[in-house]
Amino acid sequence: MQITRRGVLTAGGLGALGLMGWGGLTQPLGNTVLTKSASNLSDRNMPKPYRTQFQPLPRLAPFDVYTDDDGVPVERYSVTARTGTAAILPTLTTPIIGYNGQVPGPTISVERGTKVILRVRNQITGIVPPAGHHAEHGLPLSTHLHGHASAPEFDGYADDLTFPGYCKEYVYENDQPARSIWYHDHATHITGTNVYSGLAAQYHIHDEAERALLPQGEFDVPLTLSDVMFESDGRVRFDDKDHSGLWGDIVLVNGKPWPVMQVKRRVYRFRLLNASISRSYRPYLSTGDPVHMVATDGGLMPASQSVKTWRHAPAERYEFLVDFSTYAPGTRVRLRNASNPKNVDFDYTGEIMAFDVVDAPVDTSDPTWRTIPQTLASSDVMSLVPALSSKTRTLRLKRDDLTNVWNINETTWNDVIASGYTKVLADPALDAVEMWDLHTSSGGWFHPLHIHLVDFQIVSRNGKAPFAYERGPKDVAYVGPDEKVRVLMRFERQSGKYMVHCHNLPHEDHDMMGQFSVGLTPGQPDPHDPLTAAPPVLDTYPADD
Ligand code: C2O
Ligand code: CU
Repeated sequence: MQITRRGVLTAGGLGALGLMGWGGLTQPLGNTVLTKSASNLSDRNMPKPYRTQFQPLPRLAPFDVYTDDDGVPVERYSVTARTGTAAILPTLTTPIIGYNGQVPGPTISVERGTKVILRVRNQITGIVPPAGHHAEHGLPLSTHLHGHASAPEFDGYADDLTFPGYCKEYVYENDQPARSIWYHDHATHITGTNVYSGLAAQYHIHDEAERALLPQGEFDVPLTLSDVMFESDGRVRFDDKDHSGLWGDIVLVNGKPWPVMQVKRRVYRFRLLNASISRSYRPYLSTGDPVHMVATDGGLMPASQSVKTWRHAPAERYEFLVDFSTYAPGTRVRLRNASNPKNVDFDYTGEIMAFDVVDAPVDTSDPTWRTIPQTLASSDVMSLVPALSSKTRTLRLKRDDLTNVWNINETTWNDVIASGYTKVLADPALDAVEMWDLHTSSGGWFHPLHIHLVDFQIVSRNGKAPFAYERGPKDVAYVGPDEKVRVLMRFERQSGKYMVHCHNLPHEDHDMMGQFSVGLTPGQPDPHDPLTAAPPVLDTYPADD
């Protein structure tokens, strides 16, 4: 039944329309909706769009702040990964795993140049969500700060595992330009269930360039998007359809189903993270008006881009401005989802959230209140040109149909493990510029390909210019069905071993992940060996709450 339904859904998908312009369409254009729900909730317990108040993300405070001997400001934070409960459904509580037991986790917000030491404590014990997934002895963890050029031993290498009762201190320099990034679990072969159960949170680096251009404070609004499905008792249900992906029927923004946010009549900045483990979105405003893209995964774009819709894969971050000053008080503007091929859609997955425009005083002395800046910021990565590239490599993303295992150039993470972590897909020299062609060469799936360590520039898609909204620093490329995406980057800052993988997490876990080495000579010692350079330690700190 499920197989048939999926076949029907994808066959009639958005293929022909997918790359076309948008016009003033106001109807949902997702894949055909043939089914009510993936959740086993009763009608009474099933949430509906726009009945829940929007919740801002919680913020994490440092437990220690000081200046080190080199004059570098340092902030120390601690999060404890543990089980908890969340009020996602109006009528039932949901067991989750979260940083500090919260879903989504608490946001860390720092100034560029401030060093962060993040202690992650694993206190996950007992039977853990999702339903059907039993881990009586708790789960091992590895924490990745996605979008930050971390040293390999602090990069959440999948097998650098912190077991229950242990903790690890991750060191982040935060010396890259301002950006919206996120920390999430990356444990080998269980990243999908760990993130789905709640181990994900935003992390922001601020700087002068961004502050001079874009709204701040209450008008700078992080949004974490995810989709989920439930058992009848409120537990989350996990079904990745033979590792093809998980498509929930309930869309959450900051952990609430289809919330409504009140907005003043001015420009807002949204930082939209797609933390869904498989689903990609095609957001658009119900008014038909454009949004103004200002930043991509790695921070400010060279110039803002007005777009009516965009493809938004798991792990991608887009920052955009919406000008609510033109709407009459009482207007409801919905952020809707037109979906993309190879997603499974349900009754309400065409909705994301709503903004209710209110008649409240606006501070017009704040210059960002009605400004859409055109020129933003140049960056090293967006100044790269293909002529600088010393090597072109191809990464083929596909599934082995005999074994039902996803791979990159026929390599899986199990192959990396079997090689004693020596096998690499690429071995650029430190500071080398390379061009990589990312290619989905079988089955017509989409794969959000994430390259650790670097920011890259998307040079072309199938030989044509990239989409307007992706003309900024990126670390995830949406590689759509049968697409070839050419990316250009410099392997700078750090030598060592880094992962590269699909960010559809069931694909990553089974087993579409490999690694590359930067500036290493085979057989020579690696001072940043991610398995030995900074191992986790027994957690002897006092209980934190
Ligand atoms: Cu967001 Cu390697 O991951
Ligand atoms: Cu994939």
